[in-house]
This record gives sequence, C-alpha cells and structure tokens, in this order.
Amino acid sequence: MTTSSPRTWMTTEILDQAKQILSGMSLEEKVGQMTQYDWGYNPINPETGVSQRDLLVEEIRQGRVGSIFNLAGAEQANELQKLIQENTVSRIPLLIGRDVIHGYKTVFPIPLAQASAWNPDLARRTAEAASRESMADGVAWVFAPMIDISRDPRWGRIAESIGEDPLLTGEYAKAWVEGSQIDDGAGQATASCPKHYAAYGLAEAGRDYNTVDLSDRVLREVILPPFREAVDAGALSIMASFNEVNGIPACANEYLLKTILREEWGFEGIVASDYNALQELITHGVAGSEEEACERSILAGCDMDMHSGFYMRHLPKLVREGRVPESAVDESVLRILAVKIKLGLFEQPYVTVPTEEAAAEARASFIELAREAARESIVLLRNEGKTLPLSKQGASVAVIGPLADNRKDPLGCWAFDGNPEEVVSLLEGIRQAAGAASVHYAEGCSMESDSEEGFEAALEAARQADVVVLALGEALEMSGESRSRTSLGLPGAQRKLVEAVAALGKPVTAVLLSGRPLALPWLQEKADAIVQAWHLGVQSGHAIADVLFGDYNPGGRLPVTFPHNVGQVPIYYYRKKTGRPPGGVYSSYYIDSTTEPLFPFGYGLSYTQFEYSDITADRTSIAADGKLTVSVTVTNIGERVGEEVVQVYLRDEVASVTQPLKKLIGFSKVSIGPNESAALTFKVGMQQLAIIDQHMKLIVEPGDFTLWIGPNSSEGQSITVKVV
Ligand code: NOJ
Repeated sequence: MTTSSPRTWMTTEILDQAKQILSGMSLEEKVGQMTQYDWGYNPINPETGVSQRDLLVEEIRQGRVGSIFNLAGAEQANELQKLIQENTVSRIPLLIGRDVIHGYKTVFPIPLAQASAWNPDLARRTAEAASRESMADGVAWVFAPMIDISRDPRWGRIAESIGEDPLLTGEYAKAWVEGSQIDDGAGQATASCPKHYAAYGLAEAGRDYNTVDLSDRVLREVILPPFREAVDAGALSIMASFNEVNGIPACANEYLLKTILREEWGFEGIVASDYNALQELITHGVAGSEEEACERSILAGCDMDMHSGFYMRHLPKLVREGRVPESAVDESVLRILAVKIKLGLFEQPYVTVPTEEAAAEARASFIELAREAARESIVLLRNEGKTLPLSKQGASVAVIGPLADNRKDPLGCWAFDGNPEEVVSLLEGIRQAAGAASVHYAEGCSMESDSEEGFEAALEAARQADVVVLALGEALEMSGESRSRTSLGLPGAQRKLVEAVAALGKPVTAVLLSGRPLALPWLQEKADAIVQAWHLGVQSGHAIADVLFGDYNPGGRLPVTFPHNVGQVPIYYYRKKTGRPPGGVYSSYYIDSTTEPLFPFGYGLSYTQFEYSDITADRTSIAADGKLTVSVTVTNIGERVGEEVVQVYLRDEVASVTQPLKKLIGFSKVSIGPNESAALTFKVGMQQLAIIDQHMKLIVEPGDFTLWIGPNSSEGQSITVKVV
C-alpha cells in the first residue's frame, strides 16, 4: 500500500477562477459540463432524417456539452471550439478525449508488451510521444493508462494491461501518467485518465464485463495500489469501470468514488463514467429508471457521464425537485472547470498545428522509439542448443505462418489511428536483416481457418532452408475489449502446421505474436526456440528480426504468468500458501495437471547468462519502523553484453493474516558486459514489510521475513531477516 500523499495541482488560483466561472453558469450549462458524447456515434434518425452529429453540434453551440471524444483532426476540433467561443456566454472550451492507449498514429507495442520490458521509463516516453501526436490533433485528454490487474489470460483486455503484479503495474501507472500528461504551457497540455476504477480485470471466468466480487483485502492489497500511484502522480482524471464491485457498479459506488478516492486519497480530478455506464446501471438492475441511474451516479461521486446523456436529460430536474443537491453538481463542475483551466484551454482553446517539418521530425523520432520499445518488449522463452541468434552468414531461412507477411495484426488491439501500411511485417524485417541468408516464404495456413491447403508450400519452403521461423499467434481482433476466449491455444490449423514443419527435423524458432499469454506446453517439444513477441506496433518486423539475428540481445521478462492449460486459470505468482503443504493426496493440486506455470511471472532468457552471488543484508534484524539494505552481485558469465531484470521478492513467514508466498517488492534492470559484474542494492522498510491486518490497518508485524533476489518469481537466492 502506498502511503505518500497526492500531488496537489488544484491551486487556489485555479479554484478561484473555476468558482468565478461557475458563478455565472445556469444549471443547464453546469450539467452540460458534466456531459460527454461520442463524436463517432452518428446514426441517422429514420423518422426525422436528422443525424446524431447534427444534434450534437447544436448542443455544443448551446453550451450544453463539456466533452466529446472520438474526434480526430485539428481542423474539426478547432471548428467546434470556435462554435463555443462565438455562440455561448461562458465560452467554456470542450475537453476533447480519445483512446490513445499504445500510441496514436505511431503505434507502439500493446501495454502488456511494454510491461515485458520492465522499464517504466520506456512507457513514460511512449506515452509522451502518443500524447504529443494526439495533442496536435486537438486531443487534450487521453483515456490511458489501463492499470487493471489482470490474472486471467482469457480476458481479452489483458493485452491493454501491465499484467498481474501490483508493484510493476504501479510503477508503470506512475510513469505513464507523468509521460502522457504534457504541460508545455498555455494551450498545449494533456490529461491522462487511468482506468478502469476498479477491479475490472477480475471479471469472473475472464469474460469481459462480467461480475466482480472480491474482498476488501484483495481490493486494497492488489487492485488499488496502482491507482493510488496514478493519483499520487497527479492524474487529472480517472475512469470508473463498467463492472459491479461487490454488488454495486463502479459509477454508482460511493465507497470507491468517495470514501477511497476523495476522502482517503484526496483525489482532485474528474471521475468519468465508462461508455454508457449510467445506462448499464439499469441493465445491472440497480436503477429502475434513467432518473434513478442519474441520481445514484451523481450522489456516488461520478462527475462526468460518458455518452448516455442521462445527466443532461434528468439532472436539472432532479436538482429542481430537491432529489440531488445543487452543491453536488457544483462540486463536479468545479473539478471539470479546474482541469480545463489547468490544461490552459481557456487561454488557448484552439490547437496549434505543428509545421509539416516539425511534424515529420517528430514522427521520425517516434518511429525510432517504436523500434526501441518493440525490441525491449520481446521475451525469449526458450533457446535450446543456442538455436538463436540466427546466422546471417549464408544459411537460408524459411519464414512460415499467418503472422509473417502480415502488417495488420502487429498493430494490436487499440490502434484505430494506426495505418497497417506503416507496419513492418516480420517477413519484411527478416528480409532486411538477413544479410547474405536467403529467405523462403510461405503462409502455411490462415489465422483461423482449419484448412491445410497451404501446408505443402510451407513444407517445401522449409525443405529449402537451413532453419525455420514460424510466425504464429492471434489476430488483433482476438484480444482487447470484448474479446475474451475460453481457449488459450493457437487458432485454426496453426498447431498442425507447427507439427508438420517440425517433423522435417530442421531447427525451428516459433515467434508468438499475441495479445495474451497462450497456453502451448506442446510447443516446447516442437520448437527449439520460442520468442514471445506480442503485438508490437509499427516496427514489429524490424524489432523481431533484430532479436532473431542477434542485433539485439533480448531482455524482456514476463509481466504475467503463462499457464499450461485453461483449467489452471487464474494462475499467478502472488498466491497464498493454503493450509495444505505440497505433496500427498489431499494437498491443493490437480489430478490431471501440474499446478506449476508453464513460464513463471518475471521469466525470460537472454543470449548471455547471469549468475547471482553474495546475497547479503546489512543487518539481519530490524525494528518495525527500521530499514535494511539487501545486496547482490550479478555476473554476466556469457560472451555478450546483456540486460538482466533483477527481481526482489518477499514473504512474511508468519503473520496475523495469510500472506502471499512471494510478493515483488523491487526490481532493477541492468546492462552488464561479458565477464563483468553489477552490485545491486535494494532498500527494505515499512512500505515493503507492512501488511493489512485484520482491522484493515497497515502494520509491520514482528517475525521472520524471507527475501529472494533472482531472475524470476520461481528462482533466486534467499536470506532471512527478522523484525523485532
Ligand atoms: C469503453 C472502454 O472500456 C474504455 O476503456 C474506453 O476508454 C471507452 N470505451 C471509450 O472508448
């Protein structure tokens, strides 16, 4: 649990200015500020022939809209802002939002891939680049980062997440918020919107939008810490999730929105609902009418209604009838105005479009960053007999599979502003990197069909080559929102293709381009090397080729556990001991499967090897409020420079409340040259040692603590320290 206090951005000046504006507003105008619409939603009313957008433009002209989203383009943005400036008295600029999740025009790796870099600073830079690009199109509000803890690979939105760990997700949350919230002075600033608050990733059975029921303990120990980091980093808004949390949907959940967010954390920014989530209160069955949905949301602390239009339709009446105090409306509007002031929108409602030259220069640097991010996101999972790196010295390569000559799917799940034409396919990347090696290509099979028609051509390509690279995985539509799966296998005929090709006996490297962990234990026997490449964005092919040919030594580590099979899910490293020790018939196990992961959290290989030694603590016993330093030496015993992610885990051996077997309390990514060593130190104090006791108080209890330092959550050297 984080104990720091939030960054206060709402200064007296900002608040005074907001109050001044508020004092001149009508009730309808106030509620207008709390109303947000999807510009992209534009049906035509069959009876009147009037389009939704025409109605929306009229609402904007009358000052009855605070925010729109899904509008891209500086010209259009400026036109709408002008409409407000020229037609309304209060002249309150629109806050224009968009889902800028892993890039805007320059598409970066999906968040789960970026998380594999274990480098929050990388996410800070990609988030900033994305905000800069979208800002130039008038978007001042990015709906990111998604920091839902995800323990279930069936859930399609795991692709958008930072994975399963609260600490890693928290570090990324902080960096992402800081990176995406640009502040270049008046008129050029952006707000982030961490989401989905809260526990959306714990949807039962991994089915999107499904019920979420969790203890206050899991909420506070696992789900909330990343949101707390985002708030402390100064996030200007937060998005309440679709799901219910213990019986109450998030946008009507006072405990989440008021007790925790405002009272405990001092959050000052905007709480926005998710898309149409007020309407969903009726579908959830917790509101019998639009009015009731409205009343519940505003009273629970939801400031902005995304797209349902309920606030605009009913809130003024509810206030006039005394069912909702006007002060509740005022509080929300003050926050919305304050964010607009903070972003400099009043001073400069129009977006300044960069010159063509400046835009081209920025674009070039973003594309370079996209390659860097993509390379760092790749995780080497297997490399038997040093199959990789491939030689460029004349050996020929067969490139086979539905994701090889493919520019669309590497874009990933949130790339509606991306252009497949700009994507470097794996085939293209390999062709450019292969040097003197000849390349033979065959698709083999399509992504999802069961047809084996293309197998013969694939086998022929493989026969002609010395080594085979198989590009396998998922289409971009198979992960992301509303894309849950019950199977974690390769779709269509891909497995059969692997088996047919592997039977030739050539060295096989499988490259997995997916939006989620796949459960492919059988692949270990068929592929000599396995590269987890995710959906890597526009530079996908170059980045993977850099790894395959050894121009880049992979250093990614899994931010999420890979299961052997769907039946093990949810499987995550941060699990409890249970009352059953391992072994014996009545232990906690399966009769038909291992309980171990296929690849543990934190796992990943390199083209070099690292050795851990000399784990020590500067003291073996400390007081509850004391601090100690643990150190370790990591030596590169291989032949080339490489990056290691040194991970520190902790277990409270005996506590008043059951504790996880291990919890990540620190990590550090270091680059070490061959035959060189790095000495690393990590501080351990209250923040790492504290637990939430049975009275939900944060305390450090005396007793033994085991600390591990190692390369992943399953390995490492340990020492024991005592709190007295
Ligand atoms: C629904 C998604 O849950 C959310 O992440 C997104 O920001 C909104 N739609 C707006 O597109």
